[in-house]
Amino acid sequence: MTDSTDSVSEAGIKKNELEPEEQLETRLGLGQGIQSEEQPGAQFNIHHGASLETQPMIVHAKKRFRIAVFASGSGSNFQAIVDATLAKQLDAEVVQLVCDKPQAAVVRRAEQANIPVFAFRPKDYASREAYEAEIVQRLSALDVDLIVLAGYMRLLTATLITPFTGRIINIHPSLLPAFPGVNSVKQALDYGVKVTGVTVHFVDSGLDTGPVITQQAVELIDGDTEDTLSQRIHAIEHGLYLKAIGLIQQGRVQLDGRKVSIRQSK
Ligand code: GRF
Repeated sequence: MTDSTDSVSEAGIKKNELEPEEQLETRLGLGQGIQSEEQPGAQFNIHHGASLETQPMIVHAKKRFRIAVFASGSGSNFQAIVDATLAKQLDAEVVQLVCDKPQAAVVRRAEQANIPVFAFRPKDYASREAYEAEIVQRLSALDVDLIVLAGYMRLLTATLITPFTGRIINIHPSLLPAFPGVNSVKQALDYGVKVTGVTVHFVDSGLDTGPVITQQAVELIDGDTEDTLSQRIHAIEHGLYLKAIGLIQQGRVQLDGRKVSIRQSK
């Protein structure tokens, strides 16, 4: 990677100035109207212990809740989150898209929504830890409260998890622990289950193994194909992810070991 720290702090690279193959980062100075607005109401900062497994998470009010979304593909979940923030259904701001595939459709979605993008090619780095260290540096500078994985097709290492322990969530298209990993919808169809679903969970270093925040079932219908079932699952995902992010933003999600409890609203 050749981009400098300066390029990180600058807002204002225009789309038409970018060379797609060479300029991997777009920092578009976005959401500036939103950023300059005073947002009423509580916002939250998540304080966490050293270990996801052993320390309860305590959530404190803070002025602004800042989200970084990680995605690798089409980005329909990313879009749903951005739309909800713009419509004020979610009292939060998406301050960064991180994408490991610069040509992915989600990058175009972010550009259209004026969300800053850090798009990188893993092969440009010596190791996974090397690009994760750069991501940590960028997100720390942006004071990110929550990392939302939305179709980010990479395992995370301690380089990223440790500084954001208890502050990274993922959505998965099955009722975990059933059908982890890739092709979960096909796995469910092939197995012949009658019910599958969607899981939102905290992220640890395993493959879809972190503590479950919320789940929603989806019944299979005779004649379902991977396409028809995926469409129903996707429709559920968007609502469930917004619900989970909202609960975290409101400080109602308590993580204690593997157990996640949701506090009633006042
Ligand atoms: C979703 O099915 C999600 O569960 C999985 O990756 C997919 C991303 O879809 N982790 P999209 O790119 O948000 O449309």
